[in-house]
Amino acid sequence: MRTGLRTGLGTGLRTQGPDRAAAPCLLTLCLGCLHVVALKPQLLTRLGGSSHSTDTPISYDTFYFDQRIDHFGFLEDGTFKQRYLVADEHWQRPGGPILFYTGNEGDITWFCNNTGFMWDVAEELGAMLDSKHLNYLSSEQALADFAVLIKHLKSSSPGAEQSPVIAVGGSYGGMLAAWFRMKYPNIVVGALAASAPIWQFPGMVPCGDFYRIVTQDFAKSGNACDANIRKSWKAINNVSSTASGLQWLSEEFSLCAPLKSSIDAVGFKSWLQETWVNLAMVDYPYPANFLQPLPRWPIQVVCKFLALDPSVSDYELLHGVAQAAKVYYNYTGSSPCLNTSQTATGSLGLLGWFYQACTEMVMPMCADGVHDMFEPQDWNLQAFSDECNAMFGVRPRADWAGTVYGGKDIASHSNIIFSNGGLDPWSAGGVTSNITDSLVSILIPDGAHHLDLRYRNDQDPPSVRAARALEVMYFREWIRQAKKTQPRCP
Ligand SMILES: *[C@@H]1O[C@H](CO)[C@@H](O)[C@H](O)[C@H]1NC(C)=O
Ligand SMILES: *[C@@H]1O[C@H](CO)[C@@H](O)[C@H](O)[C@H]1NC(C)=O
Ligand SMILES: *[C@@H]1O[C@H](CO)[C@@H](O)[C@H](O)[C@H]1NC(C)=O
Ligand SMILES: *[C@@H]1O[C@H](CO)[C@@H](O)[C@H](O)[C@H]1NC(C)=O
Ligand SMILES: *[C@@H]1O[C@H](CO)[C@@H](O)[C@H](O)[C@H]1NC(C)=O
Repeated sequence: MRTGLRTGLGTGLRTQGPDRAAAPCLLTLCLGCLHVVALKPQLLTRLGGSSHSTDTPISYDTFYFDQRIDHFGFLEDGTFKQRYLVADEHWQRPGGPILFYTGNEGDITWFCNNTGFMWDVAEELGAMLDSKHLNYLSSEQALADFAVLIKHLKSSSPGAEQSPVIAVGGSYGGMLAAWFRMKYPNIVVGALAASAPIWQFPGMVPCGDFYRIVTQDFAKSGNACDANIRKSWKAINNVSSTASGLQWLSEEFSLCAPLKSSIDAVGFKSWLQETWVNLAMVDYPYPANFLQPLPRWPIQVVCKFLALDPSVSDYELLHGVAQAAKVYYNYTGSSPCLNTSQTATGSLGLLGWFYQACTEMVMPMCADGVHDMFEPQDWNLQAFSDECNAMFGVRPRADWAGTVYGGKDIASHSNIIFSNGGLDPWSAGGVTSNITDSLVSILIPDGAHHLDLRYRNDQDPPSVRAARALEVMYFREWIRQAKKTQPRCP
């Protein structure tokens, strides 16, 4: 069932830039075997300071690697061209560390553009960036792809042989980064798993936490904001019960395709629900374009339209909801109509994600309408499984992720940072307390979905600056450990 469609951001080699000539201590690297990278002294202050480099140009080269289609069976002997991107502008060879970006569920170049932290840090660590796109179809194959690719690069790239590799990823890519370190500690010295919900699997965390966090974000961003969204579902039911009401709703929301029936109204409500969830993920402190172009603290802007008195009519309430939704869908003013078949940019690669959710990434979620602002929804594995079967002809294996990746029983692993934002609903399934000295949780109370992986910005809250500084400190420690235990110098 695998296709050759996987793509990625990875590493390859170009000639050294003038920068690296100015780092002579690296040439003696392996004599000492203790020194690792020539870290620039200003590293921590720059990361913690107020400088920002949002306009750092991104440059990388694209390469292809003949990757095995199936690492685990012996019948399928074919290969596919795996795309990977390399940025070695700041790489100090030999032995400079390699940051390996563990892909994501979307277009790799798009994610790469939204992961400025890698570029900021690479400059500071003298690192080579290396990343690839996930295998849509199974995380185990993707991890094996990473391992094979890194071994290949280290043996074929002059100066990379002794380079410690650190896996970095956010969201699903963060889960892959953490699991990569767990399953292949021989390949990567550590991992930064940002906003990685490795516990959002059956039986590990309460299914309602996710929507509760979304609700909290709205509750604290404006007057009665969550209460009015909670009320809006019934208002939609009321209004959509007549043909003229459906027409009014369609016009009020400037929908591309008018609602025709109460079944359409159900789809319309899920689309709105997804819209509020997406806003919670991207509630960043500065204007950003992750899922959509948005203003700073977009939920506060949305909530301005929802600060309505409890006595307003269904129509007045829904007028406010429409204005609020348009903050998300029409912030740039260039959207002719709202398309209820879309909630995010096309780069997210949702179909691939749906497939994974329908196979091994089964993530229970539920709502009760009391502790959250959504309509009550039970988690129903059977119904979910039937949907998957209808869409892809597969049924999920709900317990597999827990079996293959250890569930909550991961204390025997080491060198993984789990960072989570307090505003991010995915933190519900994340590791939010320290497990051991080297399985560390970093909390960013004012952070949304992997804010720490984004470029530094003048409007970054102190908590994310501190998180990045701590992350770099752990990177340095892992690199130091790796060099210490390297068997010998060539
Ligand atoms: C990523 O950034 C590069 C350079 O700024 C740009 O050319 C490219 O179109 C961007 N890709 C996406 C998918 O946003
Ligand atoms: C929906 O209709 C019911 C019955 O007419 C009414 O009591 C209620 O106030 C309306 N609106 C909402 C938001 O429940
Ligand atoms: C989006 O904003 C522009 C500019 O304000 C407006 O002309 C257009 O009608 C809006 N689109 C929608 C779908 O509301
Ligand atoms: C709405 O989105 C769907 C799915 O992306 C797309 O196929 C369709 O063409 C879009 N409709 C309009 C009017 O843009
Ligand atoms: C985990 O330990 C680190 C290092 O002591 C500390 O900075 C961090 O705040 C701790 N995380 C949590 C969630 O307590």
